Amino acid sequence: MTVENKKLLDELFYSEVLPEEGYRELLAAHEDEETAGYACELARIRQKESFSNEIYIRGLIEFTNYCKNDCLYCGIRRSNGSAMRYRLTRAEIMECADQGYELGFRTFVLQGGEDAYFTDERLEDIVGGLKAKYPDCAVTLSLGERSRESYERLYLAGADRYLLRHETADRIHYERLHPPEMSWENRRRCLYDLKEIGYQVGCGMMVGSPGQTMEHLIEDLRFLKELRPHMVGIGPFIPQKDTPFGDQPQGSLKLTLFLLALIRLMLPKVLLPATTALGTIHREGREMGILAGANVVMPNLSPVSVRKKYALYDHKICTGEEAAECRGCLEQRVESIGYKIVTARGNALE
Ligand code: 5AD
Ligand code: FES
Repeated sequence: MTVENKKLLDELFYSEVLPEEGYRELLAAHEDEETAGYACELARIRQKESFSNEIYIRGLIEFTNYCKNDCLYCGIRRSNGSAMRYRLTRAEIMECADQGYELGFRTFVLQGGEDAYFTDERLEDIVGGLKAKYPDCAVTLSLGERSRESYERLYLAGADRYLLRHETADRIHYERLHPPEMSWENRRRCLYDLKEIGYQVGCGMMVGSPGQTMEHLIEDLRFLKELRPHMVGIGPFIPQKDTPFGDQPQGSLKLTLFLLALIRLMLPKVLLPATTALGTIHREGREMGILAGANVVMPNLSPVSVRKKYALYDHKICTGEEAAECRGCLEQRVESIGYKIVTARGNALE
């Protein structure tokens, strides 16, 4: 590790921000073991100050893979005719939550494609039902772009949090990843609306998506500082064979881990998941993510019968396991590196 890079990491540790040139220098050194090791060491200091050795779990319910969008990277894009479409009923969603509650989950994340069947009315009914039955639980939505009015209604129905990755903070790069009818402006509008309404908000980007440069990642870091989200979900891009990006290389493990560490240093209290995508590109990816500063894992509560169908990317892990198996598996994994899973709601700290 060069003296300069150590200084930069120390500066980031103390001041939580660097001049752009600093990020550029550090990102260029992400493959250097010593630099990456030191970044993770500092990130763990902040992680432990904020969360001790506790890892929050969120139960993910992938309730529909119908989607009106056509994002070029995503396996459930509307033009993928090979995707087997499904939708869970309200009763099935409640059953997933019942099972999750038994297993100790106190946050349910309803994630789906942008599916017109799920109108505000239907979603209000589902969110309201979950909150009525489990008032001690947080409900997180991850349903893509909607109108401000719709976000307001779902918030009033009881939703506490919303996850909407910004995917990339660079407008030109955004356009390369999305069809012409989607816009970077609307994505930002959604994120700012969600924050204003009062949701705890999660954004995030894929690492190594086609056409991404280090400059784009620097813009992402700058955007994180600007939006100040409660959660940041990042994971490597992984090609899905039926998409236009099916033959593109996957994102780098090292770069994803290095970015997790930088984000922990920039936003010491942020909720930072060790994502399923990270666990997919390396068998111990999620453990490595925690050791780079992550403090959340989001195992799947969806019925096993539909799991393979929610294939955003190829070779996704945990598509054959029951919820209880993932819960147990994660417990062991987390304990193997000296952390413990807690069942608290795990609200954002700020
Ligand atoms: N590889 C990795 N992540 C992906 N996502 C969608 N498609 C892929 C892919 N091929 C991520 C996007 C989206 C989140 C739900 O999953 O960032 O916001
Ligand atoms: Fe699902 Fe390990 S977390 S099997």
